[in-house]
Amino acid sequence: MPKMLTEPPGPLSKEMIQKDTEYFPPAFVSRLRLPIIAAEGKGSIIIDVDGNQYLDFTSGVAILNVGHCHPEVVQAIEKQSKKLLHTCGVIMRAEPTIRFAEKLLQLAPHDLTKIYLGNSGAEVVEAAIKAVRYTTGKHGIIAFQGSFHGRTMGALSLTASSSRTRRHYAPFLSEVIHVPYAYCYRCVFKLEYPDCGLACAEYINTVVETVLPSDDLAALVIEPILGEGGYVVPPNHYLSKIKKICEERNLVFIDDEIHTGFGRTGEMFAISSSDMTPDIMLCSSGVSPGLPLGVMLGKGKILRDWQEHGSTFGGNPLVCAAALASINVIQKEKLAENSAKVGQRMISTLQETKSKFELVGDVRGKGLMIGVELVKDKKTKEPATEQARGIVTECAKQGLLILVCGRYGNIVRFMPPLTITEELGEVAINIFLNALKKVT
Ligand SMILES: Cc1ncc(COP(=O)(O)O)c(C=O)c1O
Repeated sequence: MPKMLTEPPGPLSKEMIQKDTEYFPPAFVSRLRLPIIAAEGKGSIIIDVDGNQYLDFTSGVAILNVGHCHPEVVQAIEKQSKKLLHTCGVIMRAEPTIRFAEKLLQLAPHDLTKIYLGNSGAEVVEAAIKAVRYTTGKHGIIAFQGSFHGRTMGALSLTASSSRTRRHYAPFLSEVIHVPYAYCYRCVFKLEYPDCGLACAEYINTVVETVLPSDDLAALVIEPILGEGGYVVPPNHYLSKIKKICEERNLVFIDDEIHTGFGRTGEMFAISSSDMTPDIMLCSSGVSPGLPLGVMLGKGKILRDWQEHGSTFGGNPLVCAAALASINVIQKEKLAENSAKVGQRMISTLQETKSKFELVGDVRGKGLMIGVELVKDKKTKEPATEQARGIVTECAKQGLLILVCGRYGNIVRFMPPLTITEELGEVAINIFLNALKKVT
């Protein structure tokens, strides 16, 4: 339960935030930053340096699926830290790395039989770009408007969640073409599903026929639900249609599950419900209980011939031991099922706000990946960016940590640890509703 002793930032947080601003360049201070300095975390609770206790519905941006400092994860870290911290997997593999790989391959869709380990989401996005270039001999990539794939130069070339992220960083990788995502609330074609016939997916064929032929296109990379781009859940059959186009056009289908994987959406992977296997699947958040980790899983026929890549820390034994413990917790505590159950309840309650508040334009989500899009006017859909920011600040004052996303920063998102109960979900929604009333 939240317990507030001071209004955030409290005196100690204030002092440290001042140092933070002094020490780090502005690039390292996100516009999402909350006005607190964390001291401790347990389950879904964060305690700041001033002793305030918050309900953490950010999960370190969808990382902590098992919550802060889960006892089984901490135990695995303690045990491994006394045995072996590093070998550099490129020269000598460590035992936990093999055990973790074995577990992941059992869990992943069956056709995915090879695995590569890195230290972050962006790092495995880079690995995927190199792997598809190497194995197909082609270099064009189709990505999506609204997608987020990371901030390193290759990954940033694919990212298009907001042009602010790309500003002043050009030139990017050549031959990356961004096509519209199925963001039905703001359809670029001004059509409605299902009458649209998934025109946005069809548009990929137009690109291949007019801009870059299949002969030069290596892959298509997609988030099964947009994360940073606005918690956008595409309609039924959209992903299978995209996969079919990839098959017809001979493109490697890369499924970026970095935000959505490991139970976040109520299933082990967001793609699980679409009854198909990607050629490459990328994971990071969710599988790691808070240590740096990136995972690329791929079909044997794609990764079998891939050579000349590596990472000094990738597959680190401490990280792998912790991640293995985290997967065991996700399975043992049935966290994907809990995510589906609690998420459904929260989404239903939030849906009711659509008719009660002029500000609430859309409520969407799957499992515990829930977004509320705020607009100044339901007809024009003008983004209510300042109100969304106001809600985040007000919620923090009342002990609930949430974030915004989307290109306009007008979507409030809920992504608690998957361990939360229905009761805590209700507590969070009540705080959110109070804040919504205040800014309305
Ligand atoms: C879908 C997706 N891909 C890639 C990334 C990049 O991951 P990282 O920040 O670990 O580099 C993120 C991070 O939020 C993400 O959500």
